[in-house]
Amino acid sequence: MTMIEGHTAIEPPKGVPVWDVDPYDPAILSDPGEYYAELRSKGPFAYIPKYSILACGRHEETKEVFSDWQRFVSSRGVGLQDFKLEKPWRPQSIVVEADPPYHSQNRKVLARAMSPKAISALKEGFQIAADRLIDELVARGTFEAVEDLAEAYPVSIFPDAVGLQEGNKRCLIDYGAMVFNGLGPDNKLRQNAMAMGPDIVPWINEQCQRSKIDPGGFGETIFAAADAGEINEEEAGMLVRSLLSAGVDTTVTGIGSTVWCLATNPDQFERLKDDPDLLRPAFEEVLRYTSPVHSFCRTADVDTEVAGISIKKGTKILCVLGAANSDETQWPDAGKFDVARRPMGHLAMGTGIHGCVGQNLARAEVGAVLNAIINKVDKIELAGDAVWRPNNAIHALDKLPVKFTGK
Ligand code: HEM
Repeated sequence: MTMIEGHTAIEPPKGVPVWDVDPYDPAILSDPGEYYAELRSKGPFAYIPKYSILACGRHEETKEVFSDWQRFVSSRGVGLQDFKLEKPWRPQSIVVEADPPYHSQNRKVLARAMSPKAISALKEGFQIAADRLIDELVARGTFEAVEDLAEAYPVSIFPDAVGLQEGNKRCLIDYGAMVFNGLGPDNKLRQNAMAMGPDIVPWINEQCQRSKIDPGGFGETIFAAADAGEINEEEAGMLVRSLLSAGVDTTVTGIGSTVWCLATNPDQFERLKDDPDLLRPAFEEVLRYTSPVHSFCRTADVDTEVAGISIKKGTKILCVLGAANSDETQWPDAGKFDVARRPMGHLAMGTGIHGCVGQNLARAEVGAVLNAIINKVDKIELAGDAVWRPNNAIHALDKLPVKFTGK
């Protein structure tokens, strides 16, 4: 068996075009629109020889592969590496990198910790924090929206929501970036991310221990499940780690992208201010339009077929969620940001059994920020160029200078 980037090298299946592209080229990661469109134009799948993978970007097939956990498993890794063949860089996640029945048991605990009731109880505090921050930013006028808003807000509330005793802003944010860059090939982005490990990973691992968790947050519910014998102590720590891996960088990206969408589409911001009931659909449209998680992988665990294409067991499939979310056959005029679109069925939060278990929390955080913006900000303008930060799995802003004019 020949290996490439940690997985089995395959031949292009019959009927699948060969496409000489590097989906992890920083230029594509920073500005992926044309790559998304070209991928969809190739058909249900394209074969990418550089990594010997199949890639899909049409909504229908991406959804099929991403949600069919029986044929396309997550336990072999949701990045390029196949965990059946190579050891992952950190102990494998017991949620996002697990299959049923093990996945179901662990996910149940996380879903309980972040239940609608638990999130409801946090909403008032989230709003107070968002109102305070937006007041400060309006008073400043011009500011750096990635650092001063998108990063500042989640790190001001998330550690308490989990029950962390310490909140190290850089570690929390950089760990997410590291985990997501770790899903790509052995490129500069992954190498630089891995080099941050010694500074970050020990701190993260320490926060996942029971002795570091205060009562009253998601962590307490997770360790209560260990007390009840549902999971063991080590698994409880691993579930706290899942929150720290997936709960900060994603939300930071969601907030940054929301401000960018409103700053670059002033007519849509006016519509939203005129009709605050559009707040929730507006965030769904931000998710669809910007796809914070641009691509994740699955591995075929059986010989199978999708859209008439034969797929061999062991094939890595890059599911390009950003391409699926901009598929014109699913969303007419997909290239337009439309706060009233209500884009049901977008894949930005995943779908099926692995669909984002933290989505209510993410919506509560971004909802509080959007609500404060609608109430307090009259005009949002770019105060310089928006710069995107290439990451092997996340489409995130690096710099977003903006000006808020208060009401
Ligand atoms: C805008 C914010 C967010 C986005 C775009 C996002 C996106 C996603 C996506 C696409 C998946 C599916 C992965 C897959 O199927 O392989 C996922 C799963 C997951 N997310 Fe999120 N997420 C966000 C916020 C959060 C937050 C705030 C948390 C927790 C604090 C979280 C925790 C998780 C976990 C633990 C999973 C794995 C679920 C499973 O495998 O059953 N996410 N997320």
